[in-house]
This record gives sequence, structure tokens and C-alpha cells, in this order.
Amino acid sequence: METAGELIYGCMGLGGPWDATEYGAAEIDGAAAAIGAARRIGITVFDHADIYGGGKSEAVFGDVLARNEGLRGQIRIQTKCGIRLGEGGLDAYYDLSREAILERTAASLARLRTDYVDLLILHRPDPLMDPGEVAAALTFLHAEGMIGGVGVSNMSGAQIALLQDRLELPIEANQLEMSLRQRAWLESGVLINHPEAAQYPFPHGTLEHCRRHGVGLQAWGALGQGVYSGAPGEATDAERATAELVAALAGQKGTTPEAIVLGWLMRHPAGISPVIGSTNPDRIAACADAPEQARLMATTEWYSLYLSARGGPIP
Ligand SMILES: NC(=O)c1ccc[n+]([C@@H]2O[C@H](COP(=O)([O-])OP(=O)(O)OC[C@H]3O[C@@H](n4cnc5c(N)ncnc54)[C@H](OP(=O)(O)O)[C@@H]3O)[C@@H](O)[C@H]2O)c1
Repeated sequence: METAGELIYGCMGLGGPWDATEYGAAEIDGAAAAIGAARRIGITVFDHADIYGGGKSEAVFGDVLARNEGLRGQIRIQTKCGIRLGEGGLDAYYDLSREAILERTAASLARLRTDYVDLLILHRPDPLMDPGEVAAALTFLHAEGMIGGVGVSNMSGAQIALLQDRLELPIEANQLEMSLRQRAWLESGVLINHPEAAQYPFPHGTLEHCRRHGVGLQAWGALGQGVYSGAPGEATDAERATAELVAALAGQKGTTPEAIVLGWLMRHPAGISPVIGSTNPDRIAACADAPEQARLMATTEWYSLYLSARGGPIP
């Protein structure tokens, strides 16, 4: 039996719009409300990246930490490096050089107003990265007490294995887009030896690698941007039908649509930890029951949600 996942709070939405260069009291209060809501439902892990809000998400979080003595000791913070936005005349490029890892991590710590992050995550695989150089930079940061551990994001099992070969520290987590809405992670395992598999590009074997080697799975986009739990906007027929099924199950079970959507993900035996990206305290509170709903979800309920979301039968 693998370790059960836990809810994680995703801080990407804190600090106001990405294109705003500054933030003020309203954004600090908004961040404090969201962090408070996450703490009230028992969340202890907070997910960041150096690029979120152009640095404002970390900065506003640092302001909330500064206001709340003792909070830092009650939570775990993870942040990411490796993506450069709007630099070097390019919209975006990846940079996992030693200099980038060291500089970006130091800048994140300064914005977060903390001496260390519990986990430093490599945001995306950089085709130019040298695993030995990355390993040396991470080992240095760990020895300096600036990071408690190492994780990766959007990496395949093979990429993780290559890096792990050079790194003494264990790679503790891989953060991937996984949800009822984005099911490539699941379909790639179900559609083995089936032509439909081509519709779901996902590096097959990644989940299995993580499960075999104790790399925790974190799911970004876990709420599917609210498509099954009341978000307005365009939806496909399958998404609308699934939202109705989610609402019906939530009604029967006396819980919220968010708990059903996240409970479905947590019901998977890999022990997936959903990263919740809502900034709305009520919606954050609505996620509280997800671990319990995962425990209670019958196999037929799990499959009815899966089949509804895919909009057709499995082979
Ligand atoms: N590793 C990576 O590459 C990567 C990439 C993207 C994100 N992430 C992490 O994952 C976290 C979550 O990702 P995400 O934000 O893309 O996914 P999400 O949690 O699925 O979606 C959150 C978004 O959906 C909206 N939403 C949810 N339910 C809604 C409803 N009922 N009505 C209206 N709006 C609703 C939220 O708005 P409100 O704020 O108004 O609720 C928010 O904008 C991020 O915070 C970040 O920490 C990681």
C-alpha cells in the first residue's frame, strides 16, 4: 500500500494579475485569506515558483509570513526554478545551469523572507541541462541549508532516472498535470496496445517509475480549473455531463463537487497529492473533504466519473 496523498495549496494565483508589476494591501489581505483557508483545512504544504506573478506570489507570501510569527515553523514551502520569462529577447526559455539554480533560489528565499525552502523543484526539463552540473548545484544548496530536499516537475521517468543517477539526494516529488479533465497520465496506462493511445501524449512508465522509486506524485491543475465544480465558461458535452454527475454524487454523499473531483484523483493508489490553485477561501474550504471522499469512493463510482469525463467507453 502506497502512502496516501495530501492536499497542497498552489500559490500561483496570489499577488494579483501576472502582468501587474506591483501589489498592495489588497493583495496581501487576499493572500492571507487564502493561506488562512488552506491552513484551516489542514494544509501544511505551499507550492510556489520563482516565476509566479513575476515574483509577486512569493513576495506576497513572504509578507504574510512576516505578519504571522510562528507560521513558517508550521508549514512546508516548496518553490521551483528553471524557467526564464521575458529575458534574453525571448518569451520563455529554460535554464537549469548551476548559476541559474543558485541565483534563482537565493532570490526566491529573499522574496519569501525565509532562510530555506523545504523542497526545491526543477520546473521543467531543460534540454541543455547537464545532470552532473544540476546535481552539484542542488547538493551545494542542500549543504548550505537553503533547501531541505529536491523535486522535479513535468519530467518523465527516464529523465528522473538520469538525474537521480548523478544525485545523492533522493528526488522526492514529481509535479505533473493530472486531473479528471487532463487524463493523459491515466489513459497512457489504460490504452496500452491500442491506437487511441496516440491521442494522449504522456511518457509511458512515468507514474510507474515514481511509484517504484518513492517519488511522490503532485497534481497541478487538479481542479481542472473548476470545469466540473461550477466554473462558468465554455465546456464540452462530456464536461457538462460530468459536472452533472459530480453534482449528483456530491448531493448523495453530502459533500462538495470539489471534494468529489479531488477525491477521484486521490482514490488512485499511487497516492497523488492535488495542488489546489483557487484563491477563493470558500472554494479552498470546499476541498477539505477530498481525502475522505477518496476513501469512500466505490470502484463503480470512480469508473463512472472516468468514463463520463472521457466521453466514451474504454477498450
Ligand atoms: N508545475 C507546473 O508546471 C505547474 C503549472 C501550473 C500550475 N502549477 C501549480 O498548481 C496550482 C494549481 O494549478 P491551476 O491553478 O492551474 O489549477 P486548478 O486548481 O485546477 O484551477 C484553479 C483556477 O480555477 C479557478 N476555479 C476553480 N474552481 C472554480 C469555480 N468553481 N468557479 C470559478 N473559478 C474556479 C480558480 O479561480 P479562483 O481563484 O477564483 O477560485 C483558479 O483560477 C498552481 O497554483 C501552481 O501552484 C504548477
